Amino acid sequence: MNSIQDKDYVCLDDFQKSANERLQSSSFNYFADGCNEQFTLKENREAFKRYRLRPKLLRDVSNIDLSTTILGERISWPVCLSPTAIQRLADYDEGEVATARAAASVGSVMTLSCLSTRTIEEVAAVTPRGVRWMQVQFFKSRQQLENLIKRAEKAGYTALVVTVDQPVRGHKYKSTTDYNASLLTFTGHAKPVNVDLSDGEVDFDNSATWHDIKWLKSFTKLPLVLKGITTGDQAKNAVECGADAILVSNHGGRQLDYLPATIDALPEVVAAVKGSGVEVYMDGGVRHGTDVFKALARGARAVFIGRPIIWGLSCKGYEGAKQVLDILKDEVEKTMALIGCRNVNEIEPSMVVHQDYYRQQAL
Ligand code: FNR
Repeated sequence: MNSIQDKDYVCLDDFQKSANERLQSSSFNYFADGCNEQFTLKENREAFKRYRLRPKLLRDVSNIDLSTTILGERISWPVCLSPTAIQRLADYDEGEVATARAAASVGSVMTLSCLSTRTIEEVAAVTPRGVRWMQVQFFKSRQQLENLIKRAEKAGYTALVVTVDQPVRGHKYKSTTDYNASLLTFTGHAKPVNVDLSDGEVDFDNSATWHDIKWLKSFTKLPLVLKGITTGDQAKNAVECGADAILVSNHGGRQLDYLPATIDALPEVVAAVKGSGVEVYMDGGVRHGTDVFKALARGARAVFIGRPIIWGLSCKGYEGAKQVLDILKDEVEKTMALIGCRNVNEIEPSMVVHQDYYRQQAL
């Protein structure tokens, strides 16, 4: 059966529902939860619903080309995978290896978390031709970070995604009671394999500053994607420090509650880096083809997804992750046709307006 003709899994939310039934509640909550009141977690999705679409009709949409480039590499469509940790908690057998295969099968970028449960080399070996990026953070041991980067370079990863919004872990009320292990105390197969853990914990360096970004830029030839920026002034700092791209992200609502929804924050960042050549992407709450379109129209060059892949893995391993991507790709293609865009260059900012536009019309 064609993977998008499955009555049990019609849209991405179906995978989350099914994952909730399949996973132990501690694992499900670890993946699903946001921090504190979970305001930003919910807002990421609610904010998308506040934008409306304005199509151009009768434009011959018999051929839709979703392809684009990202940091100079051609990808089949403008949707890529955000790094998410310990994926063998969702798919015991393959974890990140399944994710990488699914990403490569649809021409997306796979971003491997530094807290992955498969090695940098294992993931590279299964997708020699896939586009792979490596996510890193500043560890107390600079040696540890240097080793990770050297391994990623050697294994053919083509960019470093540097997470800058996690000097400390966000506070999770729900998981603290539900998931007894502190979220950084990993055990068994749900254990990061690329980094050394001291007492089962990852030692993040909370003294890192913009100088460390400059150091990173001088240490590696790989382009740097700074992940976790939500304001224009921080985007300008990123440009000054040599970033090649910015991933507008609030960490899926897991770090600082009351950060804005990323679809709302995006244009400020896009405006701040205008003319610099720095690419801007976004993640957070993307679940529908229309969400992808809204993000592109508001200035993102590409859109990233986190949890939907975890839910796909939890339901059916590789097949599930691939099905998630197939469904979303189909939705993006249909959205493009219905709005009258044959390729990403035809997407215009005026095709997406805030709902208040229609309130003003009604006055
Ligand atoms: C994450 N995220 C994340 N980010 C990062 O930079 N390094 C990491 O290791 C992780 N790990 C991680 C684990 C889990 C379970 C989740 C849900 C998220 C954040 C992730 O990259 C991304 O920003 C969000 O997941 C995007 O939001 P959506 O698509 O999940 O709504």
